[in-house]
Amino acid sequence: MKSIEEIREDIKKELTPKRFKHSIGTMEKAIELAKKYGEDIEKVQYTALVHDMAKEMSKEQLIEYCKRNNIKLSKMDKLVPDILHGIVAADIATKEYGFTKEMHDAIYYHTTGREEMTLLDKIIYIADKSEEKTRIGEYAEELRKITKDKGLNEAILFIIDNWTIPKSIKEKKIIHINTIYARNDILKSIKE
Ligand SMILES: [Fe+2]
Ligand SMILES: [Fe+2]
Repeated sequence: MKSIEEIREDIKKELTPKRFKHSIGTMEKAIELAKKYGEDIEKVQYTALVHDMAKEMSKEQLIEYCKRNNIKLSKMDKLVPDILHGIVAADIATKEYGFTKEMHDAIYYHTTGREEMTLLDKIIYIADKSEEKTRIGEYAEELRKITKDKGLNEAILFIIDNWTIPKSIKEKKIIHINTIYARNDILKSIKE
């Protein structure tokens, strides 16, 4: 596998300065969470760094990439184009950098979450929304506080209930079924 520094340079070329900054911020936050929750630092570092590497591609380019690479998209996936950059980034990271299936999946599901999220899934998902370099404002502050005080599951529930779902409703966008699966599953874990 390429070194973190090499991948960092690749990413820098792909992304706008703001997105690059966000990627570095996500990596730093993911490392912080990995230390706290006992996840492998290197694995988290690589995964967080590349999670948005396909974010500058248009919806058409993303769909075209999936077609060319035989990546199956469900009807729902096509109706929620916001998730496509994760699906494509997961594939690129696997092919170009030799990412494992576990790392692939954490990138693939970083926008929606999924049922039975792994520790890596949770760390990437939360770090993406709570990193300190570009996620500023009241919502991000509250999310960081919840993550610190109440833990990963409460943080995920907070993101879905206060960001993902309200935003979809406000913009009259379809809510991806994986968001609902993630929410129900997390809620179940919290109540158990
Ligand atoms: Fe993303
Ligand atoms: Fe991101």
